[in-house]
Amino acid sequence: MSHIKIKNLQKSYIDRRRVSRSKTKDNSKASQGIAILNDINLEFEKGEVVCILGPSGCGKSTLLRMIAGFEKPSAGEVLVNNKPVTGPHADSIFVFQHSGLLPWMTVWENVELGLRHLEPVARKVAIQEHIDLVELTRFEHLYPYQLSGGMQRRAELARGIAVNPDTLIMDEPFSGLDFLTHMKIREEVVNMHELIKKTTLIVTHDIDDALIMGDKIIVLSGRPATVKLEKNLNFGRPRNLAENLELRELRDELFFMLGVSYAV
Ligand SMILES: Nc1ncnc2c1ncn2[C@@H]1O[C@H](COP(=O)(O)OP(=O)(O)OP(=O)(O)O)[C@@H](O)[C@H]1O
Ligand SMILES: [Mg+2]
Repeated sequence: MSHIKIKNLQKSYIDRRRVSRSKTKDNSKASQGIAILNDINLEFEKGEVVCILGPSGCGKSTLLRMIAGFEKPSAGEVLVNNKPVTGPHADSIFVFQHSGLLPWMTVWENVELGLRHLEPVARKVAIQEHIDLVELTRFEHLYPYQLSGGMQRRAELARGIAVNPDTLIMDEPFSGLDFLTHMKIREEVVNMHELIKKTTLIVTHDIDDALIMGDKIIVLSGRPATVKLEKNLNFGRPRNLAENLELRELRDELFFMLGVSYAV
């Protein structure tokens, strides 16, 4: 489990359109870059599930990549268990990427990647358990290109959960899943968290995901992103959005905050 602190984090990318090769031209504007994240300060407690919402393109994935150490901040820092993140720290953190499966390996071999430390028999059992969990039983010997988009995502989930890292970082883990699979896997993530209590960061576009899963909800503003809302959800689980008035009010507030004037 990790404690994560984000201090005065800024990120900007060089504005390539403004870069000039001429030695006489002033490149200072280009090197200032396009601001993506602006002075982000956040703290995530050990074992917390943090759901991050925000408009498309505001910098959510960029924020996750910096927490995982895949990208360097332009200013500020990320501390994991009080130690500054200076590069990828894959043993403790796992990121679900959009197409993170290794294409030359079967589903079985992809899930096996995180379980190589186990004895062969225990490993086999664990791989099968994770594959069954995401309902890919009988598809384990197929390659990623032979799976549908939703099945690929389920295989990625199985692999990520199998790695059992200190922090789980998930970038839109349910995108591309059909409604029922989305609900099922979301439930699995909640149940799994009850068991293992890892610090879990989830970027989602689905407000209900955030309300059902989050101990904390973060809403980022449009670019350059600032923290628009940081709210602890002190509700037990399972949560029922239809019955809990406070959650329903928060749901309306979140829709409004994200630019939809009526909740759907
Ligand atoms: N390597 C890069 N070079 C230049 N600009 C980049 C780079 N990576 C991301 N960006 C820009 O940073 C902004 C934020 O991107 P990011 O992927 O973090 O958004 P996001 O909030 O995850 O969006 P979405 O919800 O659509 O996934 C975008 O405008 C994107 O164009
Ligand atoms: Mg993204």
